[in-house]
Amino acid sequence: MKKDVSLNEAYSLLHPRPVALICTKDRNGKVNVMSCAWITPVSDEPPLIAISLWAKGYTHNIIDETKEFTVNIPSSKLMKQVWLAGTKSGSKVDKTKILNLKFSPSKTISPPLIEECIGFLECKVKERLILNEQILYIAEIQRACAEEDLFKNGIWIDEANILLHTGGKIFSTPKSI
Ligand SMILES: Cc1cc2nc3c(=O)[nH]c(=O)nc-3n(C[C@H](O)[C@H](O)[C@H](O)COP(=O)(O)O)c2cc1C
Repeated sequence: MKKDVSLNEAYSLLHPRPVALICTKDRNGKVNVMSCAWITPVSDEPPLIAISLWAKGYTHNIIDETKEFTVNIPSSKLMKQVWLAGTKSGSKVDKTKILNLKFSPSKTISPPLIEECIGFLECKVKERLILNEQILYIAEIQRACAEEDLFKNGIWIDEANILLHTGGKIFSTPKSI
């Protein structure tokens, strides 16, 4: 028997889904990190992704200003940092001081990469769409790289332990490939 799910929770049917750390850098050089599960590829040629950001958060202000962000893919080892980056706002705290993460320069854009992550996308915004309380950004990938021992023949192997957001405070990892 199937049960109805309320429409404002219908998105939950598309979880668990991989969570990413979005890293931005404002014009004064301040770096911020936020957690984002509403992120998806939308085209391979050109290589485009979409991210949906809450309009009351801080990150979208920086993206509007600079049109750049990095996508950093955490393994399950970074679950605590993902929770922290997803529950504190850069408008109130300097998350780079509390996350205990190392940053290294990206090659094509200004926001840095998070060294502890296992994969990276350097992205430039192409389109922006306001969806009530969310802002949808379509961005073109300028460069992508991944940990070679964990990303083999175009896939993340089991040992990558990609972190999935199941919902609320619950996270999981893929069981087996
Ligand atoms: C696992 C997880 C996934 C999240 N996914 C999103 C998302 O896709 N879009 C979004 O706007 N906020 C998402 N959030 C909430 C933001 O990360 C949170 O509001 C954060 O404080 C925003 O930081 P900022 O204000 O520094 O941008 C998520 C939080 C968690 C813990």
